[in-house]
Amino acid sequence: MAVEQLEKFTVTIDGIPVQVEPGTSILNAARQIGGDIVPPAMCYYSTLEGSGGKCRTCLVKVSKGSEKDPRPMPKLVASCRTNVMDGMEVQNITSTEVLDARKSIVEMLLINHPLDCPVCDQAGECKLQDLSYEHGVEQTRYEFERRTFERIDIGDKIQLHMNRCILCYRCVYVANQLTEGRQHGVMYRGDHAEISTFIEKAVDNDFIGNVIDVCPVGALTDKTFRFKSRVWFTKPVDAHRDCPTCSGQVTLWYKGEEVLRVTGRKDEYNEVHDFICNTCRFDKKRTSDWVLDEPTKLDKESVITANHYNTFQPIPVIKNNPELQEANEEQLARTERLK
Ligand code: SF4
Ligand code: FES
Repeated sequence: MAVEQLEKFTVTIDGIPVQVEPGTSILNAARQIGGDIVPPAMCYYSTLEGSGGKCRTCLVKVSKGSEKDPRPMPKLVASCRTNVMDGMEVQNITSTEVLDARKSIVEMLLINHPLDCPVCDQAGECKLQDLSYEHGVEQTRYEFERRTFERIDIGDKIQLHMNRCILCYRCVYVANQLTEGRQHGVMYRGDHAEISTFIEKAVDNDFIGNVIDVCPVGALTDKTFRFKSRVWFTKPVDAHRDCPTCSGQVTLWYKGEEVLRVTGRKDEYNEVHDFICNTCRFDKKRTSDWVLDEPTKLDKESVITANHYNTFQPIPVIKNNPELQEANEEQLARTERLK
């Protein structure tokens, strides 16, 4: 029997039309278009079931509900949790209302998140840092004492620093969906909410290390990497090994010849392609453990690409100026070698 083809829906986001399967969220429709019009997402994670709907950073304006019912939606909606309708029109960066709301959300997230980027291991790859840079305001209006917590060691390899947690629930979903049994959660509610210490019991599981990769901020960090290097001084290289537990597809983060840390391979939205096991992550830190593939492709905007280890792109003025060419001789030679 022929499989019935579902008719696609057309949705227009910031004036750009795209055709998507029914049941696609606005966020994923925007990701199919790509570029600046994709709303930021701090809690949604496409491979974690039930994620999204917590942080509100992905709010958008639906200016036309659908072809059948063109009324606009009365409030901004979370694009990760709202599905498209045929003929829907959505505004993200073209709506000042959305940009204003995003500014307020960042302000709220930062109420209980310390601006300790200079000493935080997540600096350089923290989504909240990017968000604050793009939408934050210079000053806080908050005068009350911030909530603070003691650091908790979740086993010998992971540290939880609740001060930085934005309660996105991603780590809870990882522990829930990749480990056996429900031994974790968010305790208390509202201002008192915190990640339950029950999560400490889940460290026995082979996949619990993935909470580090999914945490959008520096609340869950790798104790085998903490304070060893700023991330932009490291050079990520994709590698693989024949692992009996996971796909073995990882990124090795080198400093010199030393592998400082191992993570899952992440896409442009900072989501890992495959969750990796603890053995690959914590116990395989020698190059000889791996087959190297190629330098990890990074977003050109990322601070990690600042060291240009991949290729040196001489700016036009260098090409036209013999003195500058001489000064950059070494880099130019490297570029030629890498071509
Ligand atoms: S610890 Fe990280 S991943 Fe877990 S809820 Fe907090 S911010 Fe999200
Ligand atoms: S990403 Fe949509 S609410 Fe957090």
